[in-house]
Amino acid sequence: MSETMRFDDRVAIVTGAGGGLGRAHALLLASRGAKVLVNDLGGSQHGQGADAQPADQVVAEIHAAGGEAAASYDSVEDGHKIVQAALDHFGRIDIVINNAGILRDVSFHKMKEIDWELIYRVHLYGSFKVTHAAWPYLREQQYGRVIMTSSSSGIYGNFGQANYGSAKLALLGFANTLAIEGEKRNIHVNSIAPIAGSRMTESVLPADLVEALKPDHVSPLVAYLCHESCSTTGELFELGAGWVSRLRWQRTKGAMFPANQPGTPEQIAAKWDQINDFTDADIPTSNHAAFGPIMDNLGRADAPNDDAADADEVMSLSREMFQQIHARIQEHPEWTKQVNELYQFHITGEQGGSYVVNLKDDGGSAYPGEDEMARCKMTLSHENLMAMLSGEITPQMAFMEGKLKIEGNVILAAKLAPLFA
Ligand code: NAI
Repeated sequence: MSETMRFDDRVAIVTGAGGGLGRAHALLLASRGAKVLVNDLGGSQHGQGADAQPADQVVAEIHAAGGEAAASYDSVEDGHKIVQAALDHFGRIDIVINNAGILRDVSFHKMKEIDWELIYRVHLYGSFKVTHAAWPYLREQQYGRVIMTSSSSGIYGNFGQANYGSAKLALLGFANTLAIEGEKRNIHVNSIAPIAGSRMTESVLPADLVEALKPDHVSPLVAYLCHESCSTTGELFELGAGWVSRLRWQRTKGAMFPANQPGTPEQIAAKWDQINDFTDADIPTSNHAAFGPIMDNLGRADAPNDDAADADEVMSLSREMFQQIHARIQEHPEWTKQVNELYQFHITGEQGGSYVVNLKDDGGSAYPGEDEMARCKMTLSHENLMAMLSGEITPQMAFMEGKLKIEGNVILAAKLAPLFA
């Protein structure tokens, strides 16, 4: 059995913690030693009014169970006040759980600007305000765990929730960028798309389902993601009623068109099946990786070919090999963490070209082009590259035999061994 995960000396802000999911997160963290700032405005489900009672009640529950907590009644729109309250009560902040939320469901053609505005203000602007005020403290102490509460309504769309769905998916984009910006300082940011019986769902779900979908089922994942031992960041989890899963983007291999002149709608129509075919789909995990095929196609535009030719047909051997390398990298996301380097390849001969292999932490791609940041530059023929790819010779052997020329940091070349294994 693994060690009990404790949160002693950690301070957590949980917004909207006067009921539902936020209350469950607050109770669980407090039961494991965290000092919790229980924030709740206490307004109606549609965002009207205010009441101190929900936050006070949860604080009382935590105290009764022997835990430490304090109440905050500010709206998340005044996030700086909530952060200040945590500092005043407990002196620091380690965990921010952006959970407060309201609903203003209405079909889009009946939606008023106020329905859009209030949802945006509580969910997106509120999460921004609280996180933005806490961020300098998390950076300074080089530690932080942040949760955004997204929703399947944003991921998949849901009738009557154009306002809510868009704000909820915006939170995912917000979290993904903060995860990148925070990583170096050990600030991890993850998103959840939960399902739970609560005040929010009791009007749309049958009573027995509301009862069965207990918010307490969502909190263990949230607590795990907020624990110091958890290294996960920038991920999205869907969960509820004891089911926990991770969600990611998938992208078809797509179709290539000549990049040196705009195509036509008819060309798109001709390749529609290929564009929509998810066989052997890619799983891009970074903005950089997302650019891979585009850079690849731009590289093709420079290749000597007759411009009427179909770009899918004109591909040099070295380009094919770097596509293979790209695919291998995509299959092994762990390499970027292990290697964390950028490499420049120059392939000599008619079938050659310049390629970048990006195994930086936020990378994971191979594409035609040059990158001055590469600290290790390798020159070889496409025949020798093929021999290395098929495992006939190792990079070390190729180097010793003069088949591979290395400029810059030679030692870094050895880190590429798994790529050619
Ligand atoms: P809930 O209505 O029980 O809890 C939300 C809490 O946020 C309430 O206590 C409310 O007073 C508080 N709140 C509202 N506006 C606030 C503001 N401006 N400042 C501070 N507090 C405020 O709802 P539930 O279900 O617990 O929802 C929690 C979060 O989970 C929400 O962000 C919601 O959108 C999200 N969510 C819930 C799902 C579910 O199935 N229950 C599904 C997907 C997402």
